[in-house]
Amino acid sequence: IFLNLRSGRLNKKMTEDAAEFASSLEFDKYIFDADVKCNFAHVLMLKEEKIIDEKIADKILEALLKLKDEGYAVLNFDHSVEDIHMAIENYVTELVGGRVAGFMHTAKSRNDQVATDLRLTLREKIIEIQIAILEFIKGLVELAEEHKETVTIGYTHLQHAQPITIAHNLMAYAQSLKRDYERLADTYKRVNQNPLGSAAMTTTSFPINRELTTKLLGFDSYMENSMDGVSARDFISETVFDLTTLNTTLSKICEELVLWSTYEFGIINISDEFSSTSSIMPQKKNPDVAEIARAKSTVVTGELVTIISILKAIPYTYNRDLQELTPHLWNSVKVTKDILKIVTEMTLSITVNKDRCLELSGANFSTATDLADIMVREKKIPFRQAHKIVGRIVNIAIEENIATEDIDSHFVDNVVTSLNYDKLELDNDLIKKALDPLENVKMRKIPGGPSPEMVQLACNNMKSFLKEE
Ligand code: ARG
Repeated sequence: IFLNLRSGRLNKKMTEDAAEFASSLEFDKYIFDADVKCNFAHVLMLKEEKIIDEKIADKILEALLKLKDEGYAVLNFDHSVEDIHMAIENYVTELVGGRVAGFMHTAKSRNDQVATDLRLTLREKIIEIQIAILEFIKGLVELAEEHKETVTIGYTHLQHAQPITIAHNLMAYAQSLKRDYERLADTYKRVNQNPLGSAAMTTTSFPINRELTTKLLGFDSYMENSMDGVSARDFISETVFDLTTLNTTLSKICEELVLWSTYEFGIINISDEFSSTSSIMPQKKNPDVAEIARAKSTVVTGELVTIISILKAIPYTYNRDLQELTPHLWNSVKVTKDILKIVTEMTLSITVNKDRCLELSGANFSTATDLADIMVREKKIPFRQAHKIVGRIVNIAIEENIATEDIDSHFVDNVVTSLNYDKLELDNDLIKKALDPLENVKMRKIPGGPSPEMVQLACNNMKSFLKEE
């Protein structure tokens, strides 16, 4: 009863090993829903355009609806079936007989069918990932709003650089995630194009209606070249690139959480729910989930390399190599969704050690830039000269074990004169203010800066973005 493609051109069955080797059934489960939809839209169009008989079409459509209800599990998964397209056609054949079912593949090829299915499925996955990104951003904004005045130290080269707030740091994550979101939104436009109607590679001589299937399947438009339609998979490499970039963001966040939760940094605590202990060292609390996420994110980078490597040596049009992209695509989607979910939960579980943050914020002369800045502002000396003076001040302070708080006008001028410059006679209160980490942050009221007002503005802008999306 099963339709047997091989009984025409071929005389021998495939060996079992070869059949299993070449089969895509295992990962075709992801495109099952899409394939039913695609068949439905195609047959409906054939009926509308009177390409096949109305009654025949209705029987096929009914069978497809039944399959939609019964679900993937009712299909025959024998590897000799080759792929989901054959399995579905078999199902319909079994239900309505070959004389009816035999018409469903009119003016259609598995080549345009699979390209259509992949696009239909992927566009949904993209939206699911986008929604998850928005959730993460929302949580970050809420957490940031609690920490607008939690000053801590910012790093360049992983060395103490300048005071920031925890909020400013969290909003940096949010901005990065927003771009990851927008990148996917842009890619979506190129995913949501209809290849159906390209058939094997040259369309068909039947008067099919591509506008209709485009509308029925919710595509933005149909693809304008049938050879491109069946062979283009850059929508896959592009999506996986987007996911790789998103995973880079997530991995960097994990990296920071791992660092910040160490004894040495001591900035945050990751909730116990996302931590492990040691089997021998009873005192330990380890950030295992962050580490695993950091490592797993690399899988997607590997998938991207695999995908673009498969693609680069394929001549136009359809080649079976294309089938081998799909497990890597779906794995990238799955791994990304898993990482995104867990990293969201873990990041939003952190508690911040404000005392430690404050302690670190002013340590290691982190406010020295502002001491140089007041020399420029108040005494109109060139910044490069101020840079040299303050560098010298810090150098001597470290050598003589002098704390930031003890730097005053007298100390400054001693250094200034030792460098053969005129005395500056800076106001001591001004020096104090310049060297105070919280003041330091508050003075950075420039758009994009860490001052509490500016971070609140950034949070508000982000909330408007979330509302619009
Ligand atoms: N399983 C195939 C794939 O994923 C479907 C298309 C098969 N086409 C063909 N000419 N053998 O690409």
